[in-house]
Amino acid sequence: MFHMKVIKAKTHKEAGYLAADEFEKVMGKKADCVIGLATGSTPLPFYDELIQREKNRALSFSSVRTVNLDEYVGLEAEDPQSYRYYMQKNLFDHISIKKENILIPNGLEKDKETLCRKYENQIEVWGGIDIQLLGIGHNGHIGFNEPDDFFAVSTHEVKLTEKTRKANQRFFKSPNDVPKSAITVGIGTIMSAKKIVMMAVGGDKAEIIKKAFCGPVTPKIPASILQFHPNVTLICDEAAYMGFY
Ligand code: GLP
Repeated sequence: MFHMKVIKAKTHKEAGYLAADEFEKVMGKKADCVIGLATGSTPLPFYDELIQREKNRALSFSSVRTVNLDEYVGLEAEDPQSYRYYMQKNLFDHISIKKENILIPNGLEKDKETLCRKYENQIEVWGGIDIQLLGIGHNGHIGFNEPDDFFAVSTHEVKLTEKTRKANQRFFKSPNDVPKSAITVGIGTIMSAKKIVMMAVGGDKAEIIKKAFCGPVTPKIPASILQFHPNVTLICDEAAYMGFY
């Protein structure tokens, strides 16, 4: 049943602004809320807006806890291609968040099973994710949950598909530098979030938006599972929104 709220933004920037509105509402009600964050080019205006709003005192990160969706295996935090680095540069370095309130997988951890278990435990100890931001991959991946024969429940290591490695190549010097695997939260972790905000921008996302939200729920299109979540807001720019036509 399609019951998600769909908002059409005029521009990428406005999509970020509207996503920030959703987060501001949750942060305003609960100072120590747990927010789930994503990487990629889609959320950049969203992060700019959050930084601006803290500067304007519309919101505060001083007690907020953050959980990131994923990280590449083999990249250190200081590697400019790591998601940790992305988060520092695009958000954490500019807000009042406390270091101990940031959860993001360590791409260099050898014992991945323990890392994944501890990741899930930490989210549970914090009381679960109050609001989760998502982007969407061209193949429908969310976090790094790639198309598969089943939905992965919890945090795990995942082999990246060639499609995803190609899409993310633009950030690396050579195609071979793109990591072959990543640590990602599971579909179950994402579905446990109390509220989900997905941003989709650009004409290249229209087709996957249609497949994910106007077709059957299938692990071949991981984002389609969001049709079963009771509280999803999808914010599209005009080009991505064309997928609904
Ligand atoms: C990456 C990330 C996802 C992100 C997606 C889309 O691989 N792991 O969390 O949503 O790709 O990225 P973009 O926003 O750059 O299109």
